[in-house]
Amino acid sequence: MSHPTSTELHTDPSQFPGVDVYVVAGNPISHSKSPAIHQRFAQQSNQVMHYGHLQPALDEFKAAAQSFFAAGGKGMNVTVPFKLDAQALADVLTPRAQLAGAVNTLRIEGGKIFGDNTDGAGMVRDLLAQGIQIKGARILLLGAGGASRGVLGPLLEQSPKELIIANRSNAKADELVQLFSGLATSLNVVLRAVTLSELEDSSKTNAAVDLVINATAAGLSNESPINDAAASNLFTPQSFAYDMVYGKVTAFMQQALHRGARVSDGLGMLVEQAADAFLIWRGAKLADAIDSRAVLAELRTS
Ligand code: ATR
Repeated sequence: MSHPTSTELHTDPSQFPGVDVYVVAGNPISHSKSPAIHQRFAQQSNQVMHYGHLQPALDEFKAAAQSFFAAGGKGMNVTVPFKLDAQALADVLTPRAQLAGAVNTLRIEGGKIFGDNTDGAGMVRDLLAQGIQIKGARILLLGAGGASRGVLGPLLEQSPKELIIANRSNAKADELVQLFSGLATSLNVVLRAVTLSELEDSSKTNAAVDLVINATAAGLSNESPINDAAASNLFTPQSFAYDMVYGKVTAFMQQALHRGARVSDGLGMLVEQAADAFLIWRGAKLADAIDSRAVLAELRTS
């Protein structure tokens, strides 16, 4: 596979007259699957558009995004490490982007930049598409960084019975519980934090957890956020382990597989968050024209 040149990593909308131009912005960005995913959605729904890459320097997201939109760009997906910069850039935020504390989708309308976050909705739709029951379930969310915060609102809105957050730094898990306690209470969901070591103790987790979501960055360094004692306490053949990372079977997924649990990586979440962004840009009326599960299946075999 050839690597994109630096020019290809800096898509200039003025080079595509008469065509709506979108990009994914991140650093690094050359291996992003987003251009391929959006190209397939565009084919499925007969949309004429171009979707490229943008790799701003780490301290230049704002300037790069502003010049992209000034040159006629229509929309932008935003990934690591720019989701907070994108939130700061947006003139208007959707309620779910405010709740998530981050933005992964930008669009321009009437000269204003609108920021949204489709990550949580994307993960929920991927879970539901895999037959995972969230309503009434007991969920354990590992991690308390931006990835966890991004999915908490959409998860709570599915009305699980209980949502437990565990994080290496306990204080951050406690902060997230505080931040979302009002929403959880209004939805009748028990929301609480436990320490990672408490996960080894069945009296602290009380009953079997149905769904364990790894939203930590541990997989990137081939580690699991939980030790084997916690894995033995948590995973049964009835549980489902979901890792937001994709492209490999992580140490976390291996712990679950060894105990007979079902597992999933986060590739479906990537495709589903992209589908939501596509519909935000091109119109919700195209929802029936795009087939995200077919795009996911293609990615899995490519
Ligand atoms: P993101 O926005 O991707 O969530 P982040 O805000 O840096 O990134 O958060 C990373 C998360 O992964 C945090 O919950 C972090 O735990 P701490 O809050 O204790 O730092 C967690 N994490 C990263 N590496 C980890 C590891 N090796 N084991 C356990 N948790 C880890």
